[in-house]
Amino acid sequence: MIETIEKHRQDFDSRIHSSSEPLKQLRIEFLGKKGCIQALMKDLRQASPEEKRQLGKLINDFKQYVQNLLEEREQELKKPEHSSKSESFDTTLPGRREIAGTLHPITQVMNEITKIFMGLGFQVEEGPEIETDYYNFEALNIPENHPARDMQDTFYVEGGAVLRTHTSPVQIHVMENCEPPLRIIAPGKVYRCDSDISHTPMFHQIEGLMVDKNISFSHLKGIMSIFLQEVFGKETKVRFRPSFFPFTCPSAEVDIQCVICGGTGCRVCSQTGWIEILGCGMVDPAVLKCVNYDSEKWTGFAFGLGIERISMLKYGINDIRLFFENDLRFLKQFRSVC
Ligand code: DAH
Repeated sequence: MIETIEKHRQDFDSRIHSSSEPLKQLRIEFLGKKGCIQALMKDLRQASPEEKRQLGKLINDFKQYVQNLLEEREQELKKPEHSSKSESFDTTLPGRREIAGTLHPITQVMNEITKIFMGLGFQVEEGPEIETDYYNFEALNIPENHPARDMQDTFYVEGGAVLRTHTSPVQIHVMENCEPPLRIIAPGKVYRCDSDISHTPMFHQIEGLMVDKNISFSHLKGIMSIFLQEVFGKETKVRFRPSFFPFTCPSAEVDIQCVICGGTGCRVCSQTGWIEILGCGMVDPAVLKCVNYDSEKWTGFAFGLGIERISMLKYGINDIRLFFENDLRFLKQFRSVC
């Protein structure tokens, strides 16, 4: 009988730490009514009183040993690192996705517009955000007392420089440094002292300039229409209205049919059915003269558009400030497309 007890103990020891063996099974096999310890107890009835005392103690010690170890092991397996490993790890579950950042919606729209113009043969140029009065105004034929120079619009920097109020000065830098023909766009930040639901002190523009021989207003109309139909859809109606900018002549403002109401009239388009989208025109000979281009030989067109305005119309956003509050609930809706 002593040998049998020892055999059971070895069997128990080898199985208690095996992760594949359910503890419940061990408990039944060793402590259950039909388990081996009960069987030992039964066999004990045939033993002499002397043996009974000795073997009874051995059996009881073994029983105690089994109970203690089973309990210990049960406690151990209840700890979280064990329960997840042994029971709830499901290898078929999909992995957890890393939360990745995304490009800011303004960057996305800027990239989209840049891509369209690059497809039309335009090169991307950059210019400084702090400008002299000459580049921001004078070379663009904006006279001394023009309202655009008003302190209420322009941020003046110490020493007489300004934060550029538009991307148009890049036209001058490029023409000063390159001979025509040229075809460029200049995306970037601009600054105006203004703040409400459709204005922020910093916003983004894209400037465009094309100079070549025999460039006419119809080239401008063609390029603007292709561009706007790429951004807002092939069916978008485009119209040109006469306007005024000091650096272009003739000048025009371009409208698209309202993307909200489809042209029937709503609050966004002030019931007109049209939405103003950009300014453009033929480069004024006075500007060409400033950069020593022969206006008898070269003609060109220019245009300027606001990225925030286009993004707001494209995505139906009614407050420009949302772009700059950095609220992730807003930004997360623009999962990167480009
Ligand atoms: N610079 C103008 C603005 O900020 C936009 C503009 C209008 C740019 C007409 C141009 C242009 O190049 O031809 O309001």
